[in-house]
Amino acid sequence: MTTINDDYDFGTGILEEGAYFLNSASDPEALPIHMSTAHNVRDLDDLQKRYDEHGFCYNRNRNPNRTALAELMSYVEGGETSIACSSGMAAISTAVTANTKAGDHILSDQTLYGETIEIFTKILAKYGVETTFVDFTDLEAVKKSVRPNTTILYTETVSNPLISVPDIAGIADIAHANDAILIIDNTFMTGALARPLEMGADLVVNSLTKFASGHSDAVCGAVTGAAKYVDKAYELQVLLGTQSDPFSSWLVCRGMRTLNLRVRKQAENAAALAEMFEKSECVNAVYYPSLASHPQHELAVKEFGKYFGGMLSIELPDDREKMNKFMDNMHLCHYAMTLGGYRTTMSYPPMSSHSDMTKEERMAIGISDGLLRISAGIENTEDLIKDFQYALNAAYGL
Ligand SMILES: Cc1ncc(COP(=O)(O)O)c(C=O)c1O
Repeated sequence: MTTINDDYDFGTGILEEGAYFLNSASDPEALPIHMSTAHNVRDLDDLQKRYDEHGFCYNRNRNPNRTALAELMSYVEGGETSIACSSGMAAISTAVTANTKAGDHILSDQTLYGETIEIFTKILAKYGVETTFVDFTDLEAVKKSVRPNTTILYTETVSNPLISVPDIAGIADIAHANDAILIIDNTFMTGALARPLEMGADLVVNSLTKFASGHSDAVCGAVTGAAKYVDKAYELQVLLGTQSDPFSSWLVCRGMRTLNLRVRKQAENAAALAEMFEKSECVNAVYYPSLASHPQHELAVKEFGKYFGGMLSIELPDDREKMNKFMDNMHLCHYAMTLGGYRTTMSYPPMSSHSDMTKEERMAIGISDGLLRISAGIENTEDLIKDFQYALNAAYGL
């Protein structure tokens, strides 16, 4: 219904007409996408009310799609509050920077997503925050490495790419006994399969680009946890502009509606692949926590129950020609520098997430030149196993 005065010139009318359909389109079944950079207010009292109620004024501060995603993330992770960010890296850098100051020390796991390590060593180091790295599967080593100025302990629920499993409750106890907070990257498991906040973590960060979105078509991230830490991240996000855009927020919300179904099937496929690889003579090592041979298998059962996530890694013989032949003969599993999508993908950490490390640095943390990381999709399990067996046979003749 138009509210436009007939006396207005066309040049004015074209700016106003049609804008009010929003008020009459009520109760849509799916969330609309709110691309508007700003929301109008009637007068100064209305403006004040909007501020008081944390309503929508300007997109960089708040947007309906971003708020919807943040609320969904708080539910999925079981946290008090959340912010949605432009990427997983935006979530990590905003959460960590907002909760440290010059002179602080971060104690971090040594096997993490490579670019997270670079945030610590290349960015925070410039602002007087020092980070040291230790093996977080060794609680004694963690305990010994805490310093009087340690304010953050940082790890991943399942580490990238070696799929090790830290004792989150044990690490949280060490953090809290030393007045530090524990931040966990839950990207590989998601809140559908693991709840680090319930195990004692103070903040959870996620790359929603991966399993959460699940369709390899949106880049997004989130920080979830106690308001006293997330609010600091929100303040910094508004200044740095690390917020997620409305369309990506909408895409991730849509993807997350099927998260629970997808990640269970992905975990089942990953477990079936891990068992097959363990029996194969041409695979030197398999890293997946459902296997009794995994060093933290019992802890993983305690932390995750029966679903161990969609990520596994295998070590093939260090022979580039044969690895190429193996990859060339895969049909269902595609090489992709991402993970968590509905199709199975693989990546090669020495030339992707850990390409900035020297070979010696990589080998020291167990990332060999034969390591392939696999993200299981939701394909039929038998089809997937056959596809891998075919490629292994083609490359290694077994
Ligand atoms: C465990 C983990 N955390 C964070 C990130 C960064 O996420 P994004 O690419 O959305 O910035 C990645 C990317 O692969 C990741 O694997």
